[in-house]
Amino acid sequence: MNINSNLKHINHCLINHKVSLMRDKGTGTKEFREYAKEIALMLGYEALRELPTVPTKIVTPLETTTQNLIKKDSVVLLPILRAGLGMVDGILTLIPTAAVGHIGMYRDHQTFEAKEYFCKMPTLTDKTVLLLDPMLATGGSASAAVKLIKTHKPKKIKFLCIVSVPYGIEQLTKNHSDIEIYTACIDRELNADKYIVPGLGDAGDRLFGTK
Ligand code: PRP
Ligand code: URA
Repeated sequence: MNINSNLKHINHCLINHKVSLMRDKGTGTKEFREYAKEIALMLGYEALRELPTVPTKIVTPLETTTQNLIKKDSVVLLPILRAGLGMVDGILTLIPTAAVGHIGMYRDHQTFEAKEYFCKMPTLTDKTVLLLDPMLATGGSASAAVKLIKTHKPKKIKFLCIVSVPYGIEQLTKNHSDIEIYTACIDRELNADKYIVPGLGDAGDRLFGTK
């Protein structure tokens, strides 16, 4: 599917296997969390392919060489609460020094509009921001979060999700054509309640055991 050239569908059998197990309604909180963390790590591996580097002198047992190390403090993780929290640890495994901000958003049950209820950001100027949320449904939450992030002038914004649908991808792209979207799966559609189908249900509730 080529809805958007900034769309990166990370179609990998390891990822597909783990998302399939997340979808299973019999999968409990512990396993659901583990799969979210592992999938986030694999999406992060793709999203962090190119980062600014600093030529650095390294002394090997044989000679002195100049190697490129990743520039310190160049990445910020911004999970959208609650469900985005489930993706943080996987990416911190790759880049443990990244700062982590938080954006609280909930979807109004009647209008499906995203409402912001919390925001705590580190400095974003000149940083690569990984915006994290496992679900891209109507695109309302991600679009509102990106709008907010842009006011803090980051260098680049990459949105990482586990399950998306064409409608959400189109909306997010229409609102913010300059960001990259990394998704593990692109599902069929939204149902009348704006849930992704086949989907995996309510990601926040399944991560935190609240239903
Ligand atoms: C879910 C999900 C996204 C949003 C996606 O969060 O984690 O943030 O819905 O839907 P959208 O693309 O239509 O905006 P929810 O509002 O259920 O909050 P929660 O993470 O606290 O459960
Ligand atoms: N939020 C979720 O957690 N799941 C969906 O399917 C849609 C929005």
